[in-house]
Amino acid sequence: MKNPMKKKTIHDVELKGKKILVRVDFNVPLDVQTHEISNDSRIRAALPTIKHLIDERSKVILCSHLGRPKGKVVEELRLAPVAKRLSELLDLPVISAKDCIGPEVEQAVSRLEEGDVLLLENLRFHPEEEKNDPDFARALSRLADIYVNDAFGAAHRAHASTVSVAQYLPAVAGLLMEKEIDFLNKALTDPVPPFAAITGGAKVSDKLGLLENILGKVDYLLIGGGMCCTFLKAQNHDVGQSKVEDDKLDVARELMDKAAKAGVELVLPGDVVVADSFASGVPYKIASVSEIPEGSYVMDIGPQTIERFATELRKCKTVIWNGPMGVFEFAEFRHGTEAIAKQLAQLEATTILGGGSTAEAVDELGLADKMSHVSTGGGATLKFLEGKTLPGVAVLQDKEN
Ligand code: 3PG
Repeated sequence: MKNPMKKKTIHDVELKGKKILVRVDFNVPLDVQTHEISNDSRIRAALPTIKHLIDERSKVILCSHLGRPKGKVVEELRLAPVAKRLSELLDLPVISAKDCIGPEVEQAVSRLEEGDVLLLENLRFHPEEEKNDPDFARALSRLADIYVNDAFGAAHRAHASTVSVAQYLPAVAGLLMEKEIDFLNKALTDPVPPFAAITGGAKVSDKLGLLENILGKVDYLLIGGGMCCTFLKAQNHDVGQSKVEDDKLDVARELMDKAAKAGVELVLPGDVVVADSFASGVPYKIASVSEIPEGSYVMDIGPQTIERFATELRKCKTVIWNGPMGVFEFAEFRHGTEAIAKQLAQLEATTILGGGSTAEAVDELGLADKMSHVSTGGGATLKFLEGKTLPGVAVLQDKEN
C-alpha cells in the first residue's frame, strides 16, 4: 500500500515474554434492556492484534473504556460481558481484573503466563482517565513493558490511556490501528480515481470539516440524509418541517460554489421520501425536492436519487461513505441507505465506510464483509477525514526512529 502509516507497529518490537498493555476500543453498543452486547464488531476488529500477541507468547493486558460513566463505577458499564464475548471469540479464557490500576491488578499481572489474556476494568471508572492524568497513566504503565494502541475509535481523545501513557512506555500501533490509518490515509492522499464521497446523517455542522477537507480531493460528492435539507434550502427549496441549520445556509452555498469551481460534481437529491410526522408507521410518499409538501418531513432519499447516486458510483474506483441516507432507525426509511450499501457492495472499487451509524447500518444489512474497509471509529474517523491529527496516533513512535 502506498503512503503506509509511518508509526511503529507491533511488528517492529520484540514481543516474546513481554507484558504488553494494549489499549483497545471495546466501547460496544449494549442493549438498553438486557445490557447484552448488541454488536461485537469492535471486539472482532481487535482480534488480529490480540491473536498475534498470543502467538508471540506475550502477556496480553487489555484496557478499554465502555460508555461514559463519568469517573464513577457504574455496574452496567463493567467490562465483564466483553471479557465473556472475547473469550468466546478467542476460544481461550480471558481473565477479568476488578480494576485497571493498583496493587491487586499488579498482582494479577504478576501471575500471568506467556500467552495469557487479562482484561482490565473500565478505564473511565477513574476520573483521571479522561483528564489525561500523568499519575494515572504512570500507574497503568507500571503494569507493562510495552504499550500498544489498537483503539483507533478512541484515538481522537487525549486521555491517559491514549496519550499520557506513551510517555512512560515504548508506544507502538496495533494491527487495527495500522489498517484503519492505511485505508483512510490512502483514500485522502492517493485515491484511485474517480473518487466519490457520500455524506449523510442528520446535521451539516457535524460534517463541515469533512466536506471542506475532501472537496479538493473528490470527483463526486453525493449528499443525502437529513443534512441535505440545509443544502436544498440553500437552493431555495421548501423542505417542510425538516430540520434545517439556518446558520449554515451560507456555508452550504459556499461549499456548492467551491465544488463548482473545483469541477467537483456535487449531487443533491432530486426526489425524497416525505412523511407527515417524524415517526415510524405514518403515511409517507415520494416527492420531488421542488414539491415537498408544507408541514412534511424529509425521511429518506427517493428512487430517482438512488438511481442517480448509483450511476455516479458505478464510475468510481474509490468511495468513502459517512452517514446514512435516511432515518435508518425506522424500517420504512432505510431503503436509501440499503440501496447505496448494495450498490457499494457490487463495485469493483475501494469502498471505505466511516464508522458510527453507517457501519452499524451496513452491519445490520449483512454487507460489511463486502466493503474494502468498515472503520471502527465514529468521531475518530470523522476527525481523520477532516485532516486532523489524532492525539492517540501522534504519540506513537515514528518508524524512522
Ligand atoms: C466511540 O464510540 O466513538 C469511541 O469509543 C469514543 O467514545 P467517546 O465518544 O465516549 O469518547
